Amino acid sequence: MQTAHLKIGSDWQESENGKTITLNSPWDLNPFAQIQAASAKQATLAIDMAANSFLTWRNTSLSARLEIFEKIIARLIQSKDELAQVLSKEIGKFPKDAESEINRSIGYIKLVMQALAQQTGRLYYGDITGQYESMRKTGLYTREPLGVILAISSFNYPINLSITKIAPAILAGNTVVFKPATQGSYSATAFYSKFFEAGLPDGVLNIVTGSSSEIGDVLITDERIKLIAFTGSTGVGRHIGKISTGIPLLLELGGKDAAIVTNNADIEVATSEIVSGGFSYCGQRCTAQKIVIAYDGIADKLRDKLVEKSALLDLNPMIDEASADYIGELITDATEKGAHLALSGQRSKNHWQASIIDKISPEMRIFSEEQFGPVLPIIRVKDEQEAIKIHAELKYGLQASVYSQDIDEAFRISSKLEVGTVQINARTDRGPDNFPFGGVNDSGQFMQGTIETLELMTRGKLTVVNLHNLD
Ligand code: G3H
Repeated sequence: MQTAHLKIGSDWQESENGKTITLNSPWDLNPFAQIQAASAKQATLAIDMAANSFLTWRNTSLSARLEIFEKIIARLIQSKDELAQVLSKEIGKFPKDAESEINRSIGYIKLVMQALAQQTGRLYYGDITGQYESMRKTGLYTREPLGVILAISSFNYPINLSITKIAPAILAGNTVVFKPATQGSYSATAFYSKFFEAGLPDGVLNIVTGSSSEIGDVLITDERIKLIAFTGSTGVGRHIGKISTGIPLLLELGGKDAAIVTNNADIEVATSEIVSGGFSYCGQRCTAQKIVIAYDGIADKLRDKLVEKSALLDLNPMIDEASADYIGELITDATEKGAHLALSGQRSKNHWQASIIDKISPEMRIFSEEQFGPVLPIIRVKDEQEAIKIHAELKYGLQASVYSQDIDEAFRISSKLEVGTVQINARTDRGPDNFPFGGVNDSGQFMQGTIETLELMTRGKLTVVNLHNLD
């Protein structure tokens, strides 16, 4: 069976305890690959290596860093078909979606390189205040890398949700310890192995895979880590917040992205965007449309069209059977409490087809819990005021969509939604990757992107030039 290794400094290592984890492909649940389960000592060693490498990497010229990344891009382009195949197999993503994840990730590296080339500092003239008469002070405000960054990515985008942390971190002069989610570790390791083949110096990026219960807290609590960039569940995000050492945390957590469909919506646009937003990658996206808030005047027609279109879908599998069981629990809870199962998707193990539940209400679990799977609930509201009130009851605040052809109405509703992004007349979605992206409340903190992430992964530094004897 194919086996991935840990990358610690210059070594591709096995687990020192001899422990491995077998990954099953979601397509058939058969064993697909093995990854190493790093020990706590190996996790600490990875931080040692990153901290040592920082001393030289931070002084590597920007042109040298950019040149290495040009070579990385060329190497990734050569390998993209093979990488996409592995990704598709490991996380049950359709081949075309896996290809798109690889392409978009290569594109993202280019965007960060462009953003970095445009980064500027600021000049401060001290004589404006009149506080210093005998000398002239000029402040040069520049940006410096932070040090060692810990990147932790989720199973659903092992490549894209790691590159959006790792590329800005390294290009800005930081070094990285990367812990991918277990499912996704094999593809992520294959992807980043190309970085070393292209000339990234050893130690600048270190990859540790394995069980979070063994190495998670060791990584998070190490005082040499200067920033944690995490994508994953709200529960784990909260845990990181509690035990980390007071450093900045870029958290991209769960979502309950609503589709607010007013009586003025173009129903064809709303239907196709919601179906695609709700069910692509089987709903396993933090930005999936996870609840429809439909005005009474359009709800029946919208439900019928959503059912009609969703029934034609043939979805990829869910990541595992436990996630599929959870979807079953949410459907049962809602129907037992009086919701109407308008479309009942067929299930076989971890394969579920699309389900739609109409007339849900806030006391049902599916209203407050993030389903992360192929079931879309509809809650009906009488008007704008009620739509905004219901939306405010959702704990999450990642994205929301407003479907209305009345631009005043769309902007009025948008201005009242506490989320990181509002999409007007389109599905909730993170891209294009040069756009800022982030959530509030249970969905995380800080807007990330290209310029935004570079800013977060560097700190300001002021150097003051003091000129005397100017008279
Ligand atoms: O799962 C969380 C991702 O950030 C969603 O990204 O909108 O590109 O699917 P996406």
